[in-house]
Amino acid sequence: MEADSMTMAIVAAFLVSLPVLYRLLFASAGNKTSRKALPPGSFGLPVVGHTLSLLRALRANTAEDWLRRRAAAYGPVSRLSLFRYRTAFLVGPSANRFVFTSPALTTMNSEAFSRMVGRRTVRDVVGDEHARVRAMMVQFLRLDAVKRHVAGMDAEVQRHLDSHWRGRGSVAVMPSMKTLTFDVMSTVLFGLGMSRDGADVRRELSAEFQQLVQGIWAVPLNLPFTRFSRCLAASRRGRRAVAGVIEERRAKLEQGESSPADDIITHMLSKGLPDEEITDNVMFLMVAAHDTTAALITFLLRHLDANKDAYAKVLQEQEEIARRKAAGEALSWDDLCRMRYTWAAAMETLRMVPPAFSMLRKALQDVEYGGYVIPKGWQVMYSTNMTHWSPAIFPDPGRFDPARFEDPSAIPPYGFVPFGGGARICPGNEFAKVETLVTVHHIVTRFRWKLAAGCDGSFSRSPIPYPSQGLLIDIEPIDHGNTSR
Ligand code: HEM
Repeated sequence: MEADSMTMAIVAAFLVSLPVLYRLLFASAGNKTSRKALPPGSFGLPVVGHTLSLLRALRANTAEDWLRRRAAAYGPVSRLSLFRYRTAFLVGPSANRFVFTSPALTTMNSEAFSRMVGRRTVRDVVGDEHARVRAMMVQFLRLDAVKRHVAGMDAEVQRHLDSHWRGRGSVAVMPSMKTLTFDVMSTVLFGLGMSRDGADVRRELSAEFQQLVQGIWAVPLNLPFTRFSRCLAASRRGRRAVAGVIEERRAKLEQGESSPADDIITHMLSKGLPDEEITDNVMFLMVAAHDTTAALITFLLRHLDANKDAYAKVLQEQEEIARRKAAGEALSWDDLCRMRYTWAAAMETLRMVPPAFSMLRKALQDVEYGGYVIPKGWQVMYSTNMTHWSPAIFPDPGRFDPARFEDPSAIPPYGFVPFGGGARICPGNEFAKVETLVTVHHIVTRFRWKLAAGCDGSFSRSPIPYPSQGLLIDIEPIDHGNTSR
């Protein structure tokens, strides 16, 4: 009897607990993410994680191999720890699509970048606020606005070549292109033109930004003698200079001496954006707009030097355009539309040496990708290089072949992403294209060049690619008889 009552008690207890058990089982089946595993990999050493190892690889230009080894070991989704964040590293076109379009992810910058550039940039804001600030920039960057600046860019490029290339035997291309792209951007977007005041501010800002960009992915240790502390000091000086420009623009606007259409700063003031946010966005644009395009032009020249067939085709295309122009006549939008092969060569350069090596996002909630869960708060990193060097998308990826881009529709969606994608796609891509084509036109039609002795064309990343010796080339002017070109 005792045994029977014991059995009945157990059965009764089991029956009573059934609904609870059912709820527990049902709840965990419904919450799929909690059943998924974290991506394979490891978080590496405490605190430093993989940060120093990746930064070392970037500087040695072995970061591609570094990432490739991870993907070979763990597959297209893996975990690691970077800049003190748990990070999911994703590879391939479908990963790119996920990163660019998932509402569960938001943009994020490295800590060093945020401390130098600001935390209220266009990349930091979301939703309607993002759309509002982005629209203020796009006003000056969309195609019809950029078309109006072709002649102005042409003048700036010619002025630069006259003062930095003409009469010289050799030129370090990357520093020269950084100065040029900074000047073009300052004039066209910020109205810091050729007046004495404008040129002074430009020079001051340019020097600070050359320093600042070296710290974008630095370890954010503000101790004496660290790279980061030098970059932070440059950022403070840069911000003071930008604040001065904002004050001057406000005074002009209030006195009716300027219009919101004049430049981005006046436009942002007229839309009531707080000063702090204008400063952050100007700092952001100055970083985003000049080094990236300088890298594109520099590496395009490097590839043309190494690929004589491509160089011959670019030269022929550009000489045909030059022949149609009167002496001293600026390039027009129609001329740029004829530069199809040159732009294909530029895209092939963006494929092989994308200026933005990788971008970061942050998970706003637990999110699944590729059969794994990426927990809320994790960083998500995609790699432009890994996609662009995939033999499945670009056969024989180490070969420079502009013909790949003669029919862009042959490239699978999200297979070529130098400007990102989705709502955050780079709004400066048309600006960069026009600036690159105008510059290449004047360089190839005015100068012949070859790498200087001892300059091997190798490069490192921080994370923008930078060639050794700045890509030192020997130049020789092309004799055009009695034309001024
Ligand atoms: C070859 C030159 C350039 C390259 C390769 C490049 C690349 C990129 C990339 C990869 C992104 C991030 C996309 C993402 O988060 O997924 C970006 C964002 C951005 N770029 Fe560019 N960029 C270039 C030139 C420019 C120029 C010339 C400007 C402005 C004049 C500019 C302004 C911006 C802005 C404002 C954003 C932030 C967009 C947002 O968050 O809504 N970029 N760029």
